[in-house]
Amino acid sequence: VLKVMLPGGQFTWLITTYEDAVTVLKDQRFIKDMTKIYGSRDSHINASNLLTTNMLFSDPPDHKRLRGLVQKAFTPQLIHGMRDRIQDIANELLDEIGSRPTMNLIDEYAFPLPIIVICEILGVPSEDREKFRLWSNTIIDASNEETGKYFEQHANEFLQYLRDWFEHVREEPGTDLISQLVAAEEQGDKLTEQELFSVVALLIIAGHETTVNLIGNGMLALLEHPEQRKLLLEQPDLIQQAIEEMLRYNGPVEFSTTRWAGEDLVFKGHTFAKGDMVIVALDAADRDPAQFKDADLFDITREKSPHLAFGKGIHLCLGAPLARLEGEIAVTTLLNRYPDLQLSQEVKDLEWRSGMIVRGVKEIP
Ligand code: HEM
Repeated sequence: VLKVMLPGGQFTWLITTYEDAVTVLKDQRFIKDMTKIYGSRDSHINASNLLTTNMLFSDPPDHKRLRGLVQKAFTPQLIHGMRDRIQDIANELLDEIGSRPTMNLIDEYAFPLPIIVICEILGVPSEDREKFRLWSNTIIDASNEETGKYFEQHANEFLQYLRDWFEHVREEPGTDLISQLVAAEEQGDKLTEQELFSVVALLIIAGHETTVNLIGNGMLALLEHPEQRKLLLEQPDLIQQAIEEMLRYNGPVEFSTTRWAGEDLVFKGHTFAKGDMVIVALDAADRDPAQFKDADLFDITREKSPHLAFGKGIHLCLGAPLARLEGEIAVTTLLNRYPDLQLSQEVKDLEWRSGMIVRGVKEIP
């Protein structure tokens, strides 16, 4: 339990050990809805509240209602039914690369694959993915000096896009998730207009910022550990364990989103005042030697690895079954097609993304 200063000068409690991380993530005295502390927000949707009226920033009972509306689309059974489609997308992306000697693993594979999938689930055109990428990169990286300058502009463009898209869906509803959410909003009692924007924005952003880094960080770990790659090629049945180890070893979400002490409380001998900010260092907890033997070792044969890459407690990642399946298909297909794949000789220092929450490299040549 550390008290640290964030780049903007605000202080936060940072939870870094596995045991403390699990306790905080499950302890509902740490709340997500900051309006309970700092007062209500503007009831009209705007750039600054675009991402804060969804399940990830709500507490019960709102949390249950908002999560329930989306949960149906992400059940393991439904996700399992998408296996063939995800496989086709992976094959098509690699067909484009064919026998070319080099590829950029992020831009040409790890990024488009999960994006095409989430766009199809939501029912938005995947051709718009570069726009979504720009908007979601800016929003997730708002504290960065460079990207922060464009926050207002990009969030407003994103908002306008969603407004136009909801209009389109009202005229021509489909069977996709956005059509279902728009219908729920129209019934009035299930979803407010602000929640509709915020839930869809969260799904687009979560879909764009996370699985890309499971595939990217995971492949990076595998390419940097040739003996592990050889093992996976020899024993393809290890793929599920390998994906869990990739999530633990190089987790795509470095820090949880913010929680707030909902009351004055004492945690592990430290006094937290009501309204104190609390962040859980998920990737640090997943390398805690008190929980994981040889924690810094990348070992795809590791059994029973209860990592925190998807969080814990009521906010446990809703997209986890989808992300796992995408990771499994993406890595298997890539390795089968290119068993000799290697990091480019030119790679010396890979450039990592600058944001606090998401952990991933910009390019893997
Ligand atoms: C929540 C990680 C993929 C949708 C979370 C949380 C984590 C996480 C750590 C909890 C954050 C917290 O408690 O502060 C990941 C990782 C992914 C991934 C590592 C990929 C490897 C996805 C995908 C979607 C998704 C593909 C769906 C499009 C969500 C949603 C929540 C969430 C809706 C909020 C759940 C709630 O508050 O009840 N994710 N995620 N995630 N994730 Fe994911």
